[in-house]
Amino acid sequence: MRPDLGVAFAGLRMKTPVMTASGTFGYGREYAGLVNLSAIGAIVVKGVSLEPWEGNRPPRIIETASGMLNSIGLENPGLERFLEADLPWLVSSGAPVIVNVVGRTPTEYREVARALDGAPGVAALEANISCPNVEEGGLAFGADPEAAYGLVAAMREATSLPLIVKLTPNVTDVAGLAKRVVDAGADAVSLINTLVGMAIDVESGRAVLARGTGGLSGPAVKPVALAMVYRVAAAVSVPVIGMGGIWTGRDAVEFLMAGASAVAVGTATFVDPSAPVRIAGEIAEFLARRGYGWVGDLVGVANPGFRAGRPSRLADEDPVRNNQGGTLDD
Ligand SMILES: Cc1cc2nc3c(=O)[nH]c(=O)nc-3n(C[C@H](O)[C@H](O)[C@H](O)COP(=O)(O)O)c2cc1C
Repeated sequence: MRPDLGVAFAGLRMKTPVMTASGTFGYGREYAGLVNLSAIGAIVVKGVSLEPWEGNRPPRIIETASGMLNSIGLENPGLERFLEADLPWLVSSGAPVIVNVVGRTPTEYREVARALDGAPGVAALEANISCPNVEEGGLAFGADPEAAYGLVAAMREATSLPLIVKLTPNVTDVAGLAKRVVDAGADAVSLINTLVGMAIDVESGRAVLARGTGGLSGPAVKPVALAMVYRVAAAVSVPVIGMGGIWTGRDAVEFLMAGASAVAVGTATFVDPSAPVRIAGEIAEFLARRGYGWVGDLVGVANPGFRAGRPSRLADEDPVRNNQGGTLDD
């Protein structure tokens, strides 16, 4: 029998535990001809802010050893356009949609959360308090547990949607940070966002990225990400979503065993647009080979201190609509 990949946690229902990572999948359209969107566990869209943001000047992407640096700076068309044009299209594609939220102030985050609260088809929000590539917002909140607490509390007040908070690895105590955002009302935490890094062009004597520094992602960050997921899954009681350098089903299994209830795939989709679906298939192959009937049985097995929230089986839950009138199995 084919192993069961479905997971439900924090109010989310996913037919596989593999989602896209924010900012690496746009709003889905770019990938529609390349991968079956409805086969993806959940689509996490690029950060949405109250007003349109231009992002940073180019160059803002460069390949590095086993990874890449980016300093996109959260370019996005803003809430209004997202609600009018991007969201309805994406919802009709059939995958649960998780909206990544960004802002310059707690009020902006709160307003975006409020506007999305009643929007048809939004399965959850992910608060990005961890972008290293913007001057205001982003890390200014995510690196300070008390600022993070205030921001998450403001969003919590504005929405009854499941609230995931995305954590930065650019801190010394990621577990302490995770605890504070859970105290403030986060239903789940996701990690890691990118690690601050840079590259210098020695011929010109200048930083390669126009902004100077950027965020490192891809296979180079995987061991760091895994260790942080492991630590956070032993520190909080809510479910954890793991990401950072996941390229194969085997990588994903490592994150699940460290204590993640689901994983997200980012940089890998630039090389293989079908990566979120391929990786789910590879997880299923692993489960079948090792005799596991359900992916949830992997969660936390390598983590003796594991205390994070666990997923439940989809079949154990009442069918939940994907807000388009269909069920996720349609
Ligand atoms: C080009 C690029 C853009 C990104 N944009 C966002 C973003 O808008 N919001 C966010 O929360 N994370 C963003 N990220 C971070 C990813 O979602 C992810 O946390 C990180 O890249 C680690 O996963 P990966 O190694 O699989 O890419 C971005 C990453 C990349 C490479």
